[in-house]
Formats: sequence, structure tokens, C-alpha cells
Amino acid sequence: MSTVTEEIKARVDLVELIGRTVELKRVGAYYRGLCPFHAEKTPSFYVRPQAQSWHCFGCNKSGTAFDWLMEREHLEFGEALRTLAALTGVSLPERRDPEAEDQARRLYTILERAQTFYSGFLWGAAGARAREYLQKRGLSDEALQLFGLGYAPSGNALLRYLEKDGFSEQELQAAGVTGVTEDEGRPYDFFRDRVLFPIRDAQGRTIAFGARALDDAVGPKYLNSRDTLLFHKQETLFAFDLARKPMARERQVVIVEGYMDAAMAHQHGYRNVVATLGTAITDRHLRLLRRHVDEIVLALDPDAAGEAASRRAYLVAEQTLRTGMLPVVAPSRRQQRYAADSSVSLRVMSLPDGKDPDELIRSDPTAWPALVRAATPVIDFVLQRLEARHDLTTARGKAAAADEVADVLAGVANPIEQDSYTNEVAIRLKVEPEAVRRLLRARRQPSRSPHTPAGPQPTALRGDAHDDYLLALLMRLHTQRDAASTVPTDLEFILPESRALYNALGGEIPPELEPYAERARARVALVERLSTRELLSRVEETRLWIKKELIERRKMEISAVIRALGDDGDDAEERRLTGQLIELARGMAAIDQQLLPDRESAGTR
Ligand code: UTP
Ligand code: MN
Repeated sequence: MSTVTEEIKARVDLVELIGRTVELKRVGAYYRGLCPFHAEKTPSFYVRPQAQSWHCFGCNKSGTAFDWLMEREHLEFGEALRTLAALTGVSLPERRDPEAEDQARRLYTILERAQTFYSGFLWGAAGARAREYLQKRGLSDEALQLFGLGYAPSGNALLRYLEKDGFSEQELQAAGVTGVTEDEGRPYDFFRDRVLFPIRDAQGRTIAFGARALDDAVGPKYLNSRDTLLFHKQETLFAFDLARKPMARERQVVIVEGYMDAAMAHQHGYRNVVATLGTAITDRHLRLLRRHVDEIVLALDPDAAGEAASRRAYLVAEQTLRTGMLPVVAPSRRQQRYAADSSVSLRVMSLPDGKDPDELIRSDPTAWPALVRAATPVIDFVLQRLEARHDLTTARGKAAAADEVADVLAGVANPIEQDSYTNEVAIRLKVEPEAVRRLLRARRQPSRSPHTPAGPQPTALRGDAHDDYLLALLMRLHTQRDAASTVPTDLEFILPESRALYNALGGEIPPELEPYAERARARVALVERLSTRELLSRVEETRLWIKKELIERRKMEISAVIRALGDDGDDAEERRLTGQLIELARGMAAIDQQLLPDRESAGTR
């Protein structure tokens, strides 16, 4: 009897699945195309339907339909399983835990009853003030009904109501509708005298609430349910249930920041709008959305501090680029073809007059579609910001801009897309693409990992990044039997822990080093596509970066001593130390020579 995964593999049309994002041509029993995992001009990526597998002879990646979704779409195994099960119509055996199911069911019931309860209050006598408030905010009665808005009265009305229904304090607590007092541990209604926006899951079930104070003087303005068994803020989008069909139809979604923004958009017929819940946009959100749409538009509030908002948008944009959510902006047709894959187009909308979407739509509902259409591709947005901050007519300005953008580019996961952006950037900056590429190559050093912000970092942290990267390279090399013997044995590390770990590689790792090993392992994914030769050349490079770092530290120590000696210090000692500084600076220059990106053309790689 075959397992579910085998049945799925047997049923799935691999050529169709992969063909969605890679152009495949039939060659005998195979289908062939350009490998999406590495940059190539002649196809070496093969799909073999009979074997239910794919393989690239260029980069040696291979796998099944599961691996495809996991590698290409960055899905977790469970997500890939569910996706393929749905695609092939194979039903998954439910992993049943009757007790947990029962608990979840009761929590849903609590939230459903709470929602009905609150909504009853909104429309009743006690809700007059709340209704008036919402009316003043411009929400129609239909919109209030559509979103299931409510009003939470003061006191413990909900608690008493639900307890009478037979729910325990613990259950109410688990559902997030009550809190407990710190001193006596007594339960109380979590939401009081607030307008409630039910937060619903994709199926429209209430899983949490966002609660707005009626009075701006009362803080916080919004009070949100804490995370519960049913509610995970980071992966939930307000109005997703209502927007699901419209967004799938339009193949486009607009993400706004507030409940009000989303409600107002829907009220005016813009139904492909969802809102984050007071958190940054996460890759969870994006992954969820990309299953439904081809285009994601970010409408970010132009806060009073416009620069802050734009900085934030920039960070979101940058972060999104890194999760591989890329618009297709290829400067040439040829590249357009390479870049044309499953990327979702991501654009950033700029909102005029410092208005948020709520105010904007309210004041002129007809202006919205044009603003959505005018949204800027995220890479352009990033580049515009560069142009705003650097004088691109000067060499120095260009260099600074290129340096900054290289950080962003370095984080772009897909090499083909990275290449295409690199060209775009070069065109914008009016520099040779090769110049930008050189900067990028320098970025491949772990000295500026995409996960550490540019700028001065605590020295210890920077050191860790070098060590971790080097260890990752070595771990990878260790799995290649013949390569292990060619690994240099006299490597230096910044942290003693790293050195200890290096010595323990291939044997048993002492438990106290486990956290360090874990960090290094996390980076193995960054290097696992490299050939042995590349790995060895990266080891060489990283070793130089570590040397540099060690020299830097030594220089800092010596300078500190010289300063400490002060004016009345021992002159001879000071001269000796200064001599050492000069020696170190020479050593540094020599390393810089070796690290010059140009050396690539000299054939080091
Ligand atoms: P804003 O402060 O921009 O509020 O917060 P808003 O959406 O314009 O709200 P109105 O128009 O004044 O009613 C945007 C989002 O950030 C979260 C909420 O999700 C809100 O919708 N937020 C804001 C909180 O969670 N807590 C707060 O105290 C404030
Ligand atoms: Mn607002």
C-alpha cells in the first residue's frame, strides 16, 4: 500500500507544476528548461515525469514535487503536503487529537458568542455612543454589519454572560476575551468601553478582536487580543475573509495598516483590501497572499513624520525583496524571460497629503483606483529613495548609493532576479553593471550579512558572523569526503568558541557549543549550493576577513593603550606602540589587496 506522499507524487503532473514557473521543452522522455536555482544561459534543468523527479546538472539540485515547492516556493513540508494534496485531490488522513479539537471548538464558540454579544450591545441602548462614534467616522450601517462590529460595555458583562453559559475562567482566558488581575488573579473583561472589530480567519470565523477606544484621550488607541490557540497575529490579516474572493478575481491585493482603512475601502467597493494588525508585514502574510494574487500593493500610512513612514516602507520593501517576493523589472527582453517566474509583483503606493487610506477614501472615494494603479514597483521605490538621499550627479553620491543598494541586492535570494536588479540599478546610477556586481561580490562576505543592518555593529556580533560563515563552509566541506583533506588546518577564528567548534567538527559536538553550532548550521543553507572549489575559495576569502577583523581589534586595543598613556606617558613605549600600529596597518593593506574584488578577473575564482 502506498503512502499518501507516494500517491501524491504519482498523481501530480510535475511538468505542469514546474511548467507554471519554468518554461519547459520536451526532449525525449525529459522536459528541459533554464534552471531557476542558478543563473544559466543554456538549459541544464531536467524534469523527468516518469521518475517523478527533477534535476539540474548545472547546480546539482534535484528532488520531487515536494522539494520543488519547498525550495522554489519556500513552503514548509506541511504546507507543501497540503498544497499538493489539494492539487491532486488526495485526501490527507486527519491527524486527530479529539481533546485538542474539542478545546478549539469551544474556543471558537466562545468567540462567536462574544461577537454576537458585543454586536448586540452596539445595536442596543448601551451602544448609542459607539454607534454615533462609528457614524462620525463615516462607516455605514451596512459596513458595520458586514464586519460584524460590536461594542464592549464597561464592567464584566461578557464574563458573567459566558460563565452562565458554562465556560470556565480558564477557557475564557484561553480565548483571549478576559484577563486576570495581577494581584488577586481574578478574571475581568479584557475589552471595555470600546468599539470592537472582530478579526476573522479565512473561513470567516471570529478568532480575535481589535478594539478601538471611543475617546482618543484613552490609551491605547487600539487594544488587540493577545495570541491564542486560534489567533496568531503575525499571520493574520484583517478582512482577509471578505477580500479572499475579490482579490483572487482581480489577482491583486492591497495591504493597508489599519482596521478603519480596510473597513472604509470595503464600504466603498474596494474589496481586495486587507490590513495588518499593528505589526510589520511578515513573510507569513506574503506567503499567504501570494497563493491568491499576482500583485501585492502596499499602502503605507504617510505618518506625520513622513520620513519615518518612508523609511519604514523602505524597510518593508527591503525585507520583502529578501523573502523573494519580486516584481519583474527586467531591463531587457532576454532577462525578462529569465525573470518571468512565479514572482509576485510588489508595489508601494504613496498616499498624498499625509492622509491614511481611511481619510483618503472618505474624502474622495473615486481617487483610490488611480492611486493603486500608480503604485511604484518596490525596486523603483527603493531606488527613488536612493535618489532622494544621494546626489547621483557626483561620483561620490553614486558610490554611496551603489553601496547602499548593494546591501539590498545582496539579500535577493534568487540569483537570476538579483542579476536583473543589478542591471536595473546600474542603469539608474549610470554606472557599469560590472561595478555594481563587484560591490555585490564583496557583500558575499559575511561581514555584512543581510540579517545584520549596515552601520556600526557591536564588534562581538560582527565577529560572530564571520566565524559562523566560515564554520558553515567547513561543515559543508566536511560532508564531502575528499574535500575535507584539502581544508586548511591553520584557520583563525574570532571567538574561542568557534575555534573549539572547528576542532570538534566531524566528531561529537560538546553540548555547551551547541548554540554556536546551531548558529553556524543555520548558515549552511547559504552555502550548500556551492561547489567544492567555490567552498574552498570562500574559505580563503573568509579567512582574510577574519584576519582583517582580528587586526582591527588589535589596532583598537593599541590605540586605546596609547590614549591611556596620555601626554605624560613613556615616549619610548608610545613609539613602540605606534610602530606596531603602522605594522598592522601595512598588514591590513596587504589583506585589502588580496580581497580586492578585481582579483576575480585575475582568476582566483
Ligand atoms: P494608526 O495609529 O495608524 O490608527 O494604527 P488608524 O488605523 O489610523 O486608526 P484610526 O483611524 O485613528 O481609528 C494603525 C493600526 O495599528 C494598530 C491597529 O491595528 C491600527 O489599525 N494599532 C494602532 C494598535 O494595535 N494599537 C494602537 O494603539 C494603535
Ligand atoms: Mn486612520
